[in-house]
Amino acid sequence: MKTSLALLALAAFAVNAITTGAAAAAEVVGNPKAAPAKIEMCIGCHGIPGYKSGFPEVYRVPMIGGQSAKYIESALKAYRKGERKNPSMMGIAASLSDQDIADVAAYYAQQTPATAKR
Ligand code: HEC
Repeated sequence: MKTSLALLALAAFAVNAITTGAAAAAEVVGNPKAAPAKIEMCIGCHGIPGYKSGFPEVYRVPMIGGQSAKYIESALKAYRKGERKNPSMMGIAASLSDQDIADVAAYYAQQTPATAKR
């Protein structure tokens, strides 16, 4: 069931400037330096980059900083495809290009799970 991206994007609050990813070439290499602008919308829920926040109380917002890029990437793609279901994350992931996902994953993977991780 391929719901149109437009429909999913509706769920996202971000109708803003995600006009990247025009050229989703074969090889997508994550560039953490390109991430800051892209993670602005993640911070509200996932907290200060690297930490978790308790914002949406209904869901436990997982800490993503310090997780492997591969994991983050596959989680985001699973939300985008609807294989993994969470209303917020599905909307968000739908707005991300492969490049965005790679950049964001590279960025979060760079972080160390400072106090967390036990
Ligand atoms: C509206 C709140 C919200 C926003 C904004 C948000 N997230 Fe999430 N995110 C969540 C919640 C809640 C979960 C846990 C959902 C679940 O249980 O599947 C989650 C899960 C994830 C996961 C899976 C983590 C895991 O441990 O499996 C990743 C990766 C992720 N988010 C990345 C992002 C990125 C990158 C952004 C910004 C582009 C973002 N999120 C923005 C609320 C949010």
